[in-house]
Amino acid sequence: ETVTALIVAAGSGTRMGSDTPKQYRRLGAKPLLRHAVEALARHPRVDAVRVVIGAGQEDPAREALAGLDVGDLVTGGKERADSVRAGLEACADGIVLIHDAARPFCPPAVVDRLIDALSKADGAVPVLPMADTVAKGDSELRGTVNRTQLLRVQTPQAFHKSDLVYAYEEAGRGTPTDESTVMQHAGLKVATVPGDESLHKLTTANDWERAEMMLAAQMI
Ligand code: C5P
Repeated sequence: ETVTALIVAAGSGTRMGSDTPKQYRRLGAKPLLRHAVEALARHPRVDAVRVVIGAGQEDPAREALAGLDVGDLVTGGKERADSVRAGLEACADGIVLIHDAARPFCPPAVVDRLIDALSKADGAVPVLPMADTVAKGDSELRGTVNRTQLLRVQTPQAFHKSDLVYAYEEAGRGTPTDESTVMQHAGLKVATVPGDESLHKLTTANDWERAEMMLAAQMI
């Protein structure tokens, strides 16, 4: 079965307080987006990579991806779900791995676990347990949640393309934060596999510094 990695990079990427969308900023020697694309492109079981970018971002995207085989760049939409839907049209039938451009490091073992898990479920996602105490609240706490029932869900997320297209048609309304949410709402079964701390999404300036340190220390 063909495996296509779909990297979504059409977010505004400005929560980190910079004008350039963060996916085009250099992390170590390469733009963030290029790290994410290369991490999946070099996996032996990944046949093709496609990338969704924001409208008007063709120039930085082409520069970031120079020399990589990613086919035609796809233009994304307002919400992440719009971007994924647009990207799916550029993916071959078979398995799709939907991945955030904001996650530069992807251990190959995670990709293997995801693809293997698809033999027993409609989808597969990498997860990690919660380390901190988790509570509801605002300026004061309004109840601690039992963290043993909670998981942090990362990307890449693996599906058969036809299932994911179906799930978006059935349950893609609103603003789902990932594809596993849409799949569950459509009544499909999503399996979990062990995730990895190195798959952490770079959201804050602090995340970025940590990733720079991991690269510099050659931990990645
Ligand atoms: O905003 P958030 O951190 O959830 O974004 C996760 C990923 O989805 C990022 O890689 C971002 O570029 C992408 N995204 C997108 N299109 C949007 C919003 C987010 O491709 N409209």
